[in-house]
Amino acid sequence: MVTIDPNTFNADPFPLLHRMREEAPVQRAEFLDGLGRPRWLITRYDEALAALNDLRFSSDLFAVMAQGENPQGPETGLVTEAIKRAEAVQGRAMANLDPPDHTRLRKLVVRAFSAKRMEALRPTVQEVTDTLLDAVAGQDEFDLLETLAYPLSIRMVCTLLGVPADGVEVFRGAAAVLAGFMDDDDWARETIRNLEAFDGYVRQLLADKRDDPRDDMLSDLIHSTEEGGRLSEEELVAMAGLMIFAGHETTVQLIINAVLALHLNPQQMAALRADHGLLSSMTDEVMRYDGPINPGINRVALEDIEIGGVTIPKGSSVIIATAAANRDPRAFRDPDRFDITRSPDTTHLGFGHGIHYCLGARLAKIEAECAIGTLLRRYPRIALATEPENLRWRPGFLRMAEEFRIRVDI
Ligand code: HEM
Repeated sequence: MVTIDPNTFNADPFPLLHRMREEAPVQRAEFLDGLGRPRWLITRYDEALAALNDLRFSSDLFAVMAQGENPQGPETGLVTEAIKRAEAVQGRAMANLDPPDHTRLRKLVVRAFSAKRMEALRPTVQEVTDTLLDAVAGQDEFDLLETLAYPLSIRMVCTLLGVPADGVEVFRGAAAVLAGFMDDDDWARETIRNLEAFDGYVRQLLADKRDDPRDDMLSDLIHSTEEGGRLSEEELVAMAGLMIFAGHETTVQLIINAVLALHLNPQQMAALRADHGLLSSMTDEVMRYDGPINPGINRVALEDIEIGGVTIPKGSSVIIATAAANRDPRAFRDPDRFDITRSPDTTHLGFGHGIHYCLGARLAKIEAECAIGTLLRRYPRIALATEPENLRWRPGFLRMAEEFRIRVDI
C-alpha cells in the first residue's frame, strides 16, 4: 500500500499521483495525517467521472464519522468539542449531504448563484483588486497571498452573501479554522472561539436581513421557496459556512497556482501578456493542470462498490483524486504540459462533476482572471522571490502555500 505524508506530498504531489494512476486506477493509500485509516484513491479519469456520478459514493462524511467509523479519534476533549462545532457548521451544508436532502437544498440555492449575479460582481472584483494592489504600489516585493489572494477572495464571498465590512474578519476567522482539522489544543481553542463568533454574527445578520432584505445572496436564500420548502435557520448558517469553506481558500490557491504555473512556463506567460483574451482559457488550464483541490474529493462507500476492477468495501473512505484524473493521458493529450491555448479534449474535474458540481465556479474564474490580468497590466515582470522548490506548503488536503512572495519590476 502507498503511504502519503501530507507534509511532503504537498510540495509536489504529481509524481506520486502519476505513479499510482499508472499502476492501477483504484488503490488503497495510508495517510500519515493522524486522521485514521487508509483511504481508497481513484486516480484515472474515466473511473473518477464514474465515481462522481455514482451516488453510492456518499458525501455525508459526518454521518459516517458520527457512527464511529473513524477509529483513531481525536486526543483531547477540547479537540472533540472543536470538531463538534465545526461539524455543526459543516455537517448540514449541502456539499456534505446526499439526496434527497441535497436535492432540496440545491434547488433552493441554485438560483442565488445565477450567472447574472456572478457576472455583476466583475466590476467589484476589479475594484477590490485595484485597491489591494494600490496598497503595495512602489514596493518591488510582497506576499501575494496576504496582499491580494486572501483579502480578495474573502471580500468577494462576503460581498456575494451581503456581509458588511465589519463582518469580513469574522468570516476570515471562521475560514482559517475550517480549513483543516488538527489534533491540537491551540487549534481547538481558536476554532471554538472563531466559530462561536461566526455563528452569533450570522444569526444576527439573518435577523437583520429578514426585516430588511437587500439585493444579496443571504436575503435571497432567506426568502427562497421551492415546492413549499424553505431553508431553516440552521441550513442558512451552514450555507454561509459552506461558502467560506468551499469558496474562500480554494480561490486563493487558484490565483497562486496560476502565477506559479505561468512563472514556470515563460512561453505561456509571454503568450498571455501578448493576448489577455487568453485569461479565461488560462484559468481553465490552471484548474486542470494544478487545481486547488489536491488530491481530490472525499466520499464514503455506502455499499461494496466495484470500480476499476476492484471492490471498494462498504464504509471505506474514498478520495476521487481529481488532481490525478486531470492529468490522465487517457483523457488529455500531453497532460503534464501547461498549455493556456489548449482546447479541452475533455472537461477537467477541478470543480467536481455531477450533482455537487461547484456552484461558485464562475465567481472563482472571474476572480482569477481579474487578479492575473491586473498583475500583468501593472507589472512588466513578475518573478517568485522564493525558488519554487523552496516554497513551503501547508500540510493537509487543500494544497495551500504558506507564503508566496513575488518580485516585480516597477
Ligand atoms: C462544490 C471546487 C470556488 C461554492 C465544489 C466542489 C468542488 C469545488 C470540487 C464539489 C465537491 C464535491 O463534489 O463534494 C472549487 C474550487 C474553487 C471553488 C476549486 C475555486 C477555485 C467556489 C466559490 C464558491 C463555491 C467561490 C462560492 C461562492 C461551492 C458550493 C458547493 C461547491 C456551494 C457545493 C455544491 C453542492 O454540494 O451541490 N466546489 N470551488 N465554490 N462549491 Fe466550489
